[in-house]
Amino acid sequence: MKLLVTGGAGYIGSVVTRMLLDHGHQVTVLDDLRTGHREALAPDATHVDLPVHEAARVLTPDAGFDGVLHFAALIAAGESMTHPELYWHTNTVGSLALIDAVRAARVPRMVFSSTAAVYGNPTELPIPETAVKAPTSTYGATKLAVDMALTSEAIAHELGAVSLRYFNVAGAYRHDGAAIGERHDPETHLIPIALDVAAGRREKLQLFGDDYPTVDGTCVRDYIHVEDLARAHLLALDAATPGRHRIYNLGNGNGFTNRQVVEVVREVTGHPVPVEVAPRREGDPAELVASSALARDELGWVPAKPTLHDMVGDAWAFYREHIAGQTS
Ligand SMILES: NC(=O)c1ccc[n+]([C@@H]2O[C@H](COP(=O)([O-])OP(=O)(O)OC[C@H]3O[C@@H](n4cnc5c(N)ncnc54)[C@H](O)[C@@H]3O)[C@@H](O)[C@H]2O)c1
Repeated sequence: MKLLVTGGAGYIGSVVTRMLLDHGHQVTVLDDLRTGHREALAPDATHVDLPVHEAARVLTPDAGFDGVLHFAALIAAGESMTHPELYWHTNTVGSLALIDAVRAARVPRMVFSSTAAVYGNPTELPIPETAVKAPTSTYGATKLAVDMALTSEAIAHELGAVSLRYFNVAGAYRHDGAAIGERHDPETHLIPIALDVAAGRREKLQLFGDDYPTVDGTCVRDYIHVEDLARAHLLALDAATPGRHRIYNLGNGNGFTNRQVVEVVREVTGHPVPVEVAPRREGDPAELVASSALARDELGWVPAKPTLHDMVGDAWAFYREHIAGQTS
């Protein structure tokens, strides 16, 4: 297929791009590098340096695209509360412009990166796709708005749409001897921050709250290996059906507490990870664990790397190759 990947210079988009190329697809990456990295771009993909709002310049009716995978977004929930306008404009307005271009170019399928953040404080665990959607961050709300737009687009204009709601993505993907992994600036994700502490590039790790009703008082999150996540995108492309919007949670169905993650980082790296307990953060649910039963049943998706040791081990390999030597 001829595919457009928005956000292909970012963590997940760059991994998926490589997997698509390895499966014989032709890929154009649309990414203006606002938070991505030029080095993350796949050498065999064409890169177009444009904001997603201008996707129609590439996605012309004559260009013959068979599908769009839409990763481009701003992703920091905390920042979305202090700069909501930036998130609505980038994530929602940008996605609506992309959907307009998809319609005008008669592209038959679109896969969208949604998020567990659409659920907010879960009312049931593990969380099914039918759970109440009540995002506690602007970030989650901007993604939920796009999910809703895709539902109506599929019904009204025959788009084959798939939203994948990722839980916490972790790990790295080894490709042609090099690791491709996570690099956000500022980093807000637990595993890369813990690796920074293990490597001595940060003094300590802050644990936000240790009085939650969980086994050790710290929050429980569901981690999914980026390689397993990427594979789900290939299955989603095949499953996209005109006139339907399918929505799937992607997680392992296993929760790990923040302290358990830190312990695995200590074991894998062999280094101490000093922690400091800080107050709870507003809007942080005690536990977020996915039910991915629907993805397993309908897409035939089975995670191959479900253990935290796999994820932290691969993330550490990437970290040592690409980050450890840099000054912070
Ligand atoms: N990382 C996670 O754990 C996680 C969890 C749930 C959902 N997601 C979703 O997955 C997607 C990818 O996340 P990631 O971790 O790879 O993020 P990332 O920040 O590494 O990558 C995002 C990429 O999109 C590009 N981009 C952003 N806005 C753009 C715009 N308006 N125009 C053009 N390019 C733009 C950036 O330059 C960057 O290369 C996002 O949509 C995010 O909401 C990520």
